[in-house]
Amino acid sequence: MKYLSFILFCSSWSGAVFSAPPNGEQVYQQYCAGCHGPQLQGGLGANLIDDVWLHEDSEQAIIETIRNGVIDKGMPAFKTGLTQEQIKQVAQFIKVSKSANTTPEVFLDKNQIFTTKHYQFNLKLINVFDSLIWAITFINANEYLATERDTGNLYYGNIDGSYRIITGTPKVWNNDQGGLLDVALDINFANNQIIYLAYAKENINSTWQQAQGMTAIFKARIEGNKLVDQQDIFSVDDTFALPSGRHFGSRLVADNNYLYFSIGERGIRPDAQDLTKPNGKIHRIHLDGSIPSDNPFVNQASAYKSIWTYGNRNPQGLARHPNTGELWSTEHGPKGGDEINLISKGLNYGWPVITYGMNYDGTSMTNKTHMPGMEQPIRYYVPSIATSGIDFYNGDKWSKWQNNMFVTGMSAQELRRVKIVNKQVVEEELLVKNFGRVRDVAVSPSGDIYIMITRDHKGHMYKLEKLNKSGNNQQEIP
Ligand code: HEC
Repeated sequence: MKYLSFILFCSSWSGAVFSAPPNGEQVYQQYCAGCHGPQLQGGLGANLIDDVWLHEDSEQAIIETIRNGVIDKGMPAFKTGLTQEQIKQVAQFIKVSKSANTTPEVFLDKNQIFTTKHYQFNLKLINVFDSLIWAITFINANEYLATERDTGNLYYGNIDGSYRIITGTPKVWNNDQGGLLDVALDINFANNQIIYLAYAKENINSTWQQAQGMTAIFKARIEGNKLVDQQDIFSVDDTFALPSGRHFGSRLVADNNYLYFSIGERGIRPDAQDLTKPNGKIHRIHLDGSIPSDNPFVNQASAYKSIWTYGNRNPQGLARHPNTGELWSTEHGPKGGDEINLISKGLNYGWPVITYGMNYDGTSMTNKTHMPGMEQPIRYYVPSIATSGIDFYNGDKWSKWQNNMFVTGMSAQELRRVKIVNKQVVEEELLVKNFGRVRDVAVSPSGDIYIMITRDHKGHMYKLEKLNKSGNNQQEIP
């Protein structure tokens, strides 16, 4: 089924290519694919073949978008770089590709079977949320919390498909990639019902011409359908707020004493190396927001005291290894520069001085991939998969995957299984492909695996359901 669907996908897509003006595709591959993906699937730029148009979809409107760009969102203007004829051809190429794209129905057949080295499974749809879900975290075998980025809604859901909204959440700054981000449980949640949220927070300063903000961390207790005892345990002063809508991070990992969280460099690359700035870092604070006295830069004058590591571009995955206790991250890199990193106190992960990535237009950013005093990723992805949430497997149900890391890919529409032994990737396998943008993965306390996929701007939650070879039941492939 998987392969059949894949072929259908390819043929429908190449059909689009044949019936579109050939020059349109050449222009597209040369000038646009770096951001919008070689198959128009999106990346830094919008997906151009899904059902969603951010701007008007008439051919004339598309031509205008290409001519004038959407400068503040990162879409360049092409009116001087391309001729009127080329712009028209590439606009037609996009229109034809979009209309010929038969997704989602064809390869979202709910009986689709994925065959992997150890197991066969299919994806059971648990729920569809109205817009993009950024994170899911399980409370017990059946119940979970989910964050909806743009609305700022926090959902308390059950795998039977029901869910309710928890009120009392922070007001989020819904600016581009900003909004409600990660959710984590206190390790004593069963007794104290305390949760932590990461979100984009707007700083309010009447002298500013435009909105500015930064990632903030919020702590509260769930009581019935609302949050109580709310407080920001991390937020920045106006001096550090930035107008950019990009690279907020932010994943959370809580243990019995510390809370770790990531903040992306917010699109200001050099800030990642600047220890006086909070962006481009992974931070460590106590659970009440205070600064641990053994943080690596506490004694360095003018350093931002919560910094745990620096030189991080946009870490959107953070998880603790169930056995070793090591902290691992995935970093959403530039084109060709996504990384898996082992996060250790005080280290410099190199961005933007060293990277395997390049600018989205294909030009090189730096030719340095190594430097003394800067960490190498354990794994990097060329081309990029647009890494997001990660989790480690810990449970009985998928025992051959014990302690393996699950890595999500948004533009590549992937879920990967990565086996790491002694800080080395020793095995890696693609588990899910072409089902939509995989933004988060969560292993529940019962050892079940769930993924959150964005498709058509909606949050689709799936459970991996194990099959035996004849199509049912739960058996391992010997
Ligand atoms: C540097 C990255 C970049 C490049 C190169 C780029 N784009 Fe874009 N493009 C974007 C971004 C980012 C957006 C989303 C803008 C927004 O959010 O409003 C976008 C939006 C668009 C849209 C509107 C999509 C919608 O849903 O309404 C079209 C059409 C488009 N681009 C076409 C092109 C074409 C054609 C080219 C090549 C000639 C191109 N782009 C090159 C980044 C890029």
